[in-house]
Amino acid sequence: MSSSGAGTRLGIDIGTSAVKAILVDDAETVLAEAEVPLEVSRPQPGWSEQDPDDWWRAVKRAFSQVRGEAPQAFGAIDAIGLSGQMHAALGLDADGAPVGPAMLWNDGRATAECADLNETVAELGLKAGVPAMPGFTAPKLLWLARHDPERFARIRTIVLAKDYVRMKLTGEIATDMSDAAGALLLDEARRAYFPALVEACGLDLDQLPPLKEGSTAAGGLRRGVATAHGLTQGIVVATGGGDAAVGAVGIGAVGDGDAFLSLGTSAQYFVTTAAYRPYPQALVHAFAHAVPERWFQMAAMLNGASALGWLAGVVGRGDDIPGLLAAAEARGRRPSPVTFLPYLTGERTPHDNADARGVFFGLGSDTDTADLVAAVLEGVAFSLVDAQDALAAAGTIPARLAAIGGGARSRLWLEIIASALGRPIDIQAGAAKGPAFGAARLARIARDGGSVAESCPAPAIAATIEPDPVRAAAYAERLPLYRALYRNLKPLFPPTGSPG
Ligand code: XUL
Repeated sequence: MSSSGAGTRLGIDIGTSAVKAILVDDAETVLAEAEVPLEVSRPQPGWSEQDPDDWWRAVKRAFSQVRGEAPQAFGAIDAIGLSGQMHAALGLDADGAPVGPAMLWNDGRATAECADLNETVAELGLKAGVPAMPGFTAPKLLWLARHDPERFARIRTIVLAKDYVRMKLTGEIATDMSDAAGALLLDEARRAYFPALVEACGLDLDQLPPLKEGSTAAGGLRRGVATAHGLTQGIVVATGGGDAAVGAVGIGAVGDGDAFLSLGTSAQYFVTTAAYRPYPQALVHAFAHAVPERWFQMAAMLNGASALGWLAGVVGRGDDIPGLLAAAEARGRRPSPVTFLPYLTGERTPHDNADARGVFFGLGSDTDTADLVAAVLEGVAFSLVDAQDALAAAGTIPARLAAIGGGARSRLWLEIIASALGRPIDIQAGAAKGPAFGAARLARIARDGGSVAESCPAPAIAATIEPDPVRAAAYAERLPLYRALYRNLKPLFPPTGSPG
């Protein structure tokens, strides 16, 4: 525990399924944690939205929970850091009020707009780090301009999820490089907005928030918020960053070549780079990092641990994921007879296909729940093999990986993934903490200065999961079927997107 009187920091992550908050002391010991669930609304097939004020309400509830758990340490908070789901399209009017719900990263409606942007903006993929794909902010804004011009016309400023919350905390509007990158509005090499792309979306540069590095201060806590929650007015609120990048900060992936997997609602295969290294052909995202002078290459999959949560709900065991994992483990090391394509909400890397959907192939009258669970774990692992191959095409071949996110709590899943990838996976102490922990680190740097490398050490390795040769051979044999299923089914997925 922190000694009384010592300062503490709060990291807040505006996730998709929950707002998470972590309170740490100077030694980065976790003093309290909170998790407040969020709902996603899907008003049309392929759409995915949240009410930005739900984020803010959840943050306030998280404050109360953390305060209840560690009142003294909560009162000693001297800086707040932020992380959030990337790629939201959220416009604010002249009073700072949302013009409508935020369209999320897994919203698939803007397929036609992507095709138009990729055609009209010269060198889009090379400059913005990846071609336009439907979940990104820029094409969704263009969709709004075309389909709801009245709402679009009311937009004074564009913000990302964590920026909206920071505006509520400080009154200031800003964004960071990683979220501007994820918005597909950044010229990555210059770490400045990409005017041709901004214009192609029907926006003016002055509608975009000022750009800051994620580890810098972006304002002080407003008096009203401080008084309402028992915090100190004026404490530093860091700019923060997109969850993929801030998750990297949390496990010290800030050096060239540091690699990890994130298994949250979505999944990422993420490698930090010291230079901007685009390779749009493979749909690898080459984005500016949340810390200065760093970029990253990332294969981004839309369906991670959420695929297991989905199955658990379908079989009526939403509260018993550990039981389902135990059943899959009891099957032993033989692969599931069933092959699962995890594209429940479409897929980004390597397919760029918002219309793709999940598939169970090979069901028999003897298929049981454990087979389905194993198939889901393996299907997500196969999608990570595709991710690894995309990164290899981009010239990046990590020898080992760390793992973060809720899915990384399952040793079985990590063993399946390590075997499918042919890479050892290091389990770091407390790695499931994820982006909220990285956000607390950004808060500290914003307040105290200090080098990013020194402030962001990698946690100690608690265990390493080596590939299992029996599993590896079985998955190598299954991979061609997994890939053939997508190839053959691709023309059959019905188009989602615009209702017109
Ligand atoms: C990254 C991505 C996710 C979202 C939601 O490209 O789409 O990380 O930020 O978590």
